Amino acid sequence: MCGIVAYIGPKDATPFLLEGLARLEYRGYDSAGVAVAGRTGGIKLRKVKGRVADLAAAVPARFKGGTGIGHTRWATHGVPSDANAHPHLDNAERIAVVHNGIIENADELRAKLTADGAVFRSETDTEVLSHLIAAHATEGVELEDAVRAALGRVVGTYGIAVLDSEQPDRIVVARNGSPIVLGIGEKEMFAASDVSALVRYTRQVVHLEDGELATVRADGFRTFTADARTTHRQPSTVDWEIDSFDTGGYEHYLLKEIHEQPTSVERTLSGRLDERFSTAHLGGLNLDARELREIRRVKILGCGSAYYAGEMGAQLIEELARVPAHSEPASEFRYRNPVIEADTLYVAVSQSGETYDTLAAVQEIKRKGGRVLGVVNTVGSAIARECDGGIYLHAGPEVSVASTKAFTSTVVAFALLALHFGRIHDLSPADGRRIVSALQALPDQIREVLDQSEAIAELAAEYAGSAGMMFIGRVRGYPVAREGAQKLKEISYVHAEAYPASELKHGPLALISPELPTVALVPDDELLDKNLTTLGEIKARSGRVIAVAHKRPEDRLVDHCVLVPKSEPELDPLLLNIPLQLLAYHAAVALGRDVDKPRNLAKSVTVE
Ligand code: F6R
Repeated sequence: MCGIVAYIGPKDATPFLLEGLARLEYRGYDSAGVAVAGRTGGIKLRKVKGRVADLAAAVPARFKGGTGIGHTRWATHGVPSDANAHPHLDNAERIAVVHNGIIENADELRAKLTADGAVFRSETDTEVLSHLIAAHATEGVELEDAVRAALGRVVGTYGIAVLDSEQPDRIVVARNGSPIVLGIGEKEMFAASDVSALVRYTRQVVHLEDGELATVRADGFRTFTADARTTHRQPSTVDWEIDSFDTGGYEHYLLKEIHEQPTSVERTLSGRLDERFSTAHLGGLNLDARELREIRRVKILGCGSAYYAGEMGAQLIEELARVPAHSEPASEFRYRNPVIEADTLYVAVSQSGETYDTLAAVQEIKRKGGRVLGVVNTVGSAIARECDGGIYLHAGPEVSVASTKAFTSTVVAFALLALHFGRIHDLSPADGRRIVSALQALPDQIREVLDQSEAIAELAAEYAGSAGMMFIGRVRGYPVAREGAQKLKEISYVHAEAYPASELKHGPLALISPELPTVALVPDDELLDKNLTTLGEIKARSGRVIAVAHKRPEDRLVDHCVLVPKSEPELDPLLLNIPLQLLAYHAAVALGRDVDKPRNLAKSVTVE
């Protein structure tokens, strides 16, 4: 959410800043800006409401300077506008600041700074930082000391990069709740809120910890704490491929990521299945068999699609390990003073590893002595580092705002956890074998579903104009329905509701009419007859039905049917979900939506 880039070195900063911002645009895209310390002194600034492409068009050819910062914004304080776009300057136009996060005491600081003569030019909380740092950057004070002093007065979360026209040999960055990563180049240094901006230039990175700052110069960096103690950080190597950040010939990142699922699932499974003992090996759990056997309950926490993936994970754990498991939105959990139990295993789910609500939930559990595993895609991310152990998804970077391949890999990771956990509890070797084989078959089965993309596109075009859509599923199918509705809403803006099929007759059946089509998950499992009865009830009210099923129900019960290959019942939800991704994608395309950058949203919600 919001993207930061910074460059210092012998080249002009602007080309890197603009390219880095384009790569970070999925984190926020309502406005963008860059500031460079000009070679002849002063700060050059361009910022616009709109996309990075609009910014690039607005930057003049002679925008020279080897030290620069940039930002792409997702509005929190103040509407998207040129004035509210970052970077923000102080009144002397000496200090420029870009910021991700929220300054909670911004109003109070603004009043004090205004009383001292500062004139504010935006409605943002960030502008407080530029005036505050400028106020501390008096004669002879090093920029890092001015930034430390200013941050000492700030309550809130931030990832910031600060430029000082009078000390253009450095950029100061700081992190508290919002990520900052340094990139180490050859006699040049980079910084960004996300490695995706850096991978074209360097693989050597340093993730700052919360509460840490860094002074970055062309020839290196120094990290330190808020009380000026030097910290020692070793660079790590990023193993993501640069072409993961291109659309690779697909029209959208979302379509590419949907089609990557056979390989991303293979990567999630790679080296983790044990055919001999019909179990899974998960080296990062940091829990031995005795500790796992003592666990009486599993609580899964995540936000949005990560929460729905957690619901599928909870069902897998209950079914395979027979340990009670439950998923809850991390954003709710963290506000309700949860009871933390010693024999409960907490599992935090996050693609980005940055979602603030999930991170806060993890920190609350740890503060109360609980044990938390992470199911995370981004290696070295804040949530991954905060957890006691976990499972990396290895799904590769997910660029499109709507989560697809990370969602699927999360459920696969839960299947591995449930299998491992189950085999330590009472899952029989035969059942273990059944799950191992089914997991191995998944990539090809996903390919079979993806082959139906064109037929699903036709369906989507037929239904995209509907005022809304109902998604229903029973037990294992219900989280699939929730995720399907979420995907449709967020990228096509078509209203969608998900209901347990069993609950339809307790209220929402009143909504059913030819105007509100229903997408029904109808797996061939022990609940098939119940699901068919529900379809009959919908058809009796003239509702239109798209079934996602293993075998086509009678014509009188459905208008359309998408068939998916059968897995084991516990894993069926994974395959039932794939057509719903395609349905949402093609509906959004049919409606002309900005598929990869849906309105009002951003990837990685790093604010409260
Ligand atoms: C939906 C979507 C969001 C995220 C949620 C959590 O497609 O992408 O609902 O799933 O914001 O994000 P992570 O997984 O990064 O914590």
